[in-house]
Amino acid sequence: MKLTIIEADQLKTKPDDSKLGFGTLFTDYMFNMDYNPEDGWYNPRIEPYASIDMDPATMVLHYGQGVFEGLKAYRTEKGAIQLFRPRDNFKRMNNSSRLLCIPEIDEDFVLDCLKKLLNIEKDWVPSASGTSLYIRPTIIATDPFLGVRASHTYRFFIILSPVGAYYAEGFNPVKIWVTRKHVRAVRGGVGEAKTPGNYAASLYAGEQAHKHGYTQVLWLDGNEQEYIEEVGAMNIFFVINGELITPMLNGSILPGITRDSVIALAKMWGIKVAERKIGISEVLDVHASGKLEEIFGSGTAAVISPVGEIKVGDTVITISDGKVGTLANRFYNELTNIQYGKIKDPAQWIEPI
Ligand code: PLP
Ligand code: COI
Repeated sequence: MKLTIIEADQLKTKPDDSKLGFGTLFTDYMFNMDYNPEDGWYNPRIEPYASIDMDPATMVLHYGQGVFEGLKAYRTEKGAIQLFRPRDNFKRMNNSSRLLCIPEIDEDFVLDCLKKLLNIEKDWVPSASGTSLYIRPTIIATDPFLGVRASHTYRFFIILSPVGAYYAEGFNPVKIWVTRKHVRAVRGGVGEAKTPGNYAASLYAGEQAHKHGYTQVLWLDGNEQEYIEEVGAMNIFFVINGELITPMLNGSILPGITRDSVIALAKMWGIKVAERKIGISEVLDVHASGKLEEIFGSGTAAVISPVGEIKVGDTVITISDGKVGTLANRFYNELTNIQYGKIKDPAQWIEPI
């Protein structure tokens, strides 16, 4: 397939790197590609960033048939640009697509197109500390049709956004609210896919958490409302008695690439790791017996997000004295040092542009 490049007449003014928030600014160009059953994926093109003109009956608007990804391009101290495990993102996108009955993409081809897009947009990759260019590949169902079935046509696009910290807290402990009333995903559902409905399902509880003065929701399983799944839009880790524990992937948890990287690093460092079920009652018990050392979230946007406080019903517990834990700090430094090219990549995770 031949990639077409359509040049913009006018370029935007680039923002001040030191003032970047998350997800509000977009670059000059985007990647687009369409799908129909006759041609498969066709017409890949890099063109000026623009609105998508849609029929009001477009299926994604009604039934949420869509998938997306989130990864980042980092600028190194020497000025080079690099990606962190991008192949894993496109692989996960195809896994999500299979669950949503969306046709798969050619992972190598779209990575190649992403690299070309980044080459055109390289001046948009910020260089201030903690900043990066957030990459959002997305697929939407585009048939204008109101019956419930999988769409026959799709649009794949990639947009780019220069970003700073995801949380206002930065790399500081967040306060977490536990709900037994609302769940994000259930067994047999689409929790392991990166699909819009999972995020829509998280909003109400998220607002409840904010009303109570908490930043994020700790999600429990949808069957028993006991076993911990994720925190906000991140995977979660516990350090109990020197062991690193994370809920095992069960179909309703998103298989995070940062999660996988944390597990890999821990194994390289000789830390004992367990992927297993962990209940909220167990967390309260080990806290009471003084064995709960740390809790932290992991995800592309925040990398590592330490948890300083948890509210479960009327019980409030403080973790690591409300400070950043030792291991959270070590993982954060190691991962960001790899991502920004400050240290050697231990596992072929870096993809230069
Ligand atoms: N869980 C959810 C629901 C997410 O949206 C994300 C973010 O992408 C993650 C976990 C972390 O995944 P990753 O480490 O691949 O960014
Ligand atoms: C993450 O990267 O950790 C996220 O959850 C991204 C979010 C904006 C959906």
